[in-house]
Amino acid sequence: MKKFAHGMRYMPKNYSDEAEAKLQQYKRAGCKLPMRNLLRTEEQIAGIRESAKINTALLDYIAEHIREGMSTAEIDHLVYCFTTDHDAIPADFLYEGYPKSVCTSVNDVVCHGVPSTKEILRNGDIVNVDVSTIYKGYYSDASRMFLIGDVKPEVRRLVEVTRECRDLGIETAQPWARLGDIGAVIQEHAQNNGYSVVREFCGHGCGIKFHEEPDVEHVGKRGTGMLLVPGMTFTIEPMINMGGKEIFIDETDGWTVCTEDGLPSAQWESQILITETGNEILTE
Ligand code: MF3
Ligand code: CO
Repeated sequence: MKKFAHGMRYMPKNYSDEAEAKLQQYKRAGCKLPMRNLLRTEEQIAGIRESAKINTALLDYIAEHIREGMSTAEIDHLVYCFTTDHDAIPADFLYEGYPKSVCTSVNDVVCHGVPSTKEILRNGDIVNVDVSTIYKGYYSDASRMFLIGDVKPEVRRLVEVTRECRDLGIETAQPWARLGDIGAVIQEHAQNNGYSVVREFCGHGCGIKFHEEPDVEHVGKRGTGMLLVPGMTFTIEPMINMGGKEIFIDETDGWTVCTEDGLPSAQWESQILITETGNEILTE
């Protein structure tokens, strides 16, 4: 007779007995709960924080160097060199065959723009730089928008409102809230400003793997979806379009996602940890 079931071992919890009791209470009420492996241990949280520190320093470094006249391939080079200089790996590189170390999404590109020597940043452009880092096996992920030169006021407003959408999502991501609460605040803020929310791509659990459960949708209904439990780490990364929500994928590279109507799109991404008292912003 076997003494232990396969894979059974002591897993230290990073949340209290009080939180455990709450978890059981919500379970009895029929709430969808995260799998236990999504509740990070203190050791895992420490590792994710280290990775996140490098990822944030990388975006600060890009912020210092990005400028008009630069190609998006130059951004890719900066990302590759900075990351490897910090003994880390760009998580994008060869992820599902992705050919570069960063996604650079300019103007009407919604996400997954592939850096190119032929793509030069011009006065008036907006560009999302999305970077992801693997450090000692732990994953981090974030993106920011950069304005190149003089950007039209209505485009600047899109960028600002999108950041507000992300920040409202973070404020809403409290322990014992629901995933649908996050989607709802983001969707309402975008639509109240006359914008639309991209549906095909969402935030995601991130930390032990690049993309894991849960899917964090940027539209939703309050009081629905998975329960938010202390120890979860995931991204919130709304893609907001100035015009319609429809998108298409560029067939020449199979990656670049563009707005159907050619109008601009913006995105801001943070990775957070749900704690017993609120949340901790890991990356931004
Ligand atoms: N960084 C993106 C995210 O926020 C994922 C990019 S995957 C790649 O989830 F393959 F396109 F790099
Ligand atoms: Co992400």
